Amino acid sequence: MISIEDVSRKELEDLFLLADEMRGRRTDDLKGKIMASAFFEPSTRTRLSFESAMKRLGGEVIGFSSSEGTSIDKGESFSDTIRMLDRYSDVIVIRHRYEGAARRAAEVAEVPVINAGDGRGNHPTQAMLDLYTIWRKFGCIDGLTIGILGDLRYGRAANSFICGVSKYKVRLKLISPPPLRIRHEVRSKIGIDFEETFDLEKVLPELDVLYVTRIQKERFSDPSEYEKVKESYRITSSTLMKAKKDLVVMHPLPRVGEIDVSVDVTKHALYFDQAANGVPVRMALLKVIFGVV
Ligand code: NCD
Repeated sequence: MISIEDVSRKELEDLFLLADEMRGRRTDDLKGKIMASAFFEPSTRTRLSFESAMKRLGGEVIGFSSSEGTSIDKGESFSDTIRMLDRYSDVIVIRHRYEGAARRAAEVAEVPVINAGDGRGNHPTQAMLDLYTIWRKFGCIDGLTIGILGDLRYGRAANSFICGVSKYKVRLKLISPPPLRIRHEVRSKIGIDFEETFDLEKVLPELDVLYVTRIQKERFSDPSEYEKVKESYRITSSTLMKAKKDLVVMHPLPRVGEIDVSVDVTKHALYFDQAANGVPVRMALLKVIFGVV
């Protein structure tokens, strides 16, 4: 599971229905199976919700949450590390700072590989839980007007969400400071019309969903470029005065100032429920991967 592009609408709908069945459940479906959780980059939600999902399905988890303490520190190659995980587990969940790392792991490993974020590339399971969150909230995704705000240049969650949401008949508004607009290779993959702007005020009243993202400081090769765009947007409860009453604000998290805490107490805030949906969605995905549906 490397990219959301490889997943059809039908597969997504089936996953959502299965995720609904998994909510709050504990089963023995994956008893005897071991998930290797290989996080070479920081994570809170993705790693822990994957581990929680595996345990709730009766499976077990091995792994690491940084390359420190592994033989990578001794100079072991990425491929050799993956070859070992392949022999110790039944599925590998991997996060890495290099774009393409998960695909490379999938070439080396015999067991299934799930991409939990590769550099600025893809984050398919985040897109799955994002789409599931919208589907649960509105009952459908077609027909909605969706704005995606922030770092569309380096944000893998944003990239995968854009690719995922463009499988549906939505009106798409990409809202970012000009230096953080989507890259060419992502642009060419969006199969629907979209508007690009940095005028949030103009598009806000039309939106059903506002998906906010963090500026990916760690991906800028030139710190002065980051300085130019940092703090270029911030949503507060007063920003949302002109929004539709049912607008939902989403964010893959972590947030570092782009959504003020004053939004948390409004009925627009959906980001904590969104993060919670990571567990049933990842349970559903693991069941599909092991063919126990
Ligand atoms: C995102 C990521 O790691 O790409 N976080 C997540 O998985 N929920 C978004 C981010 O770090 O900004």
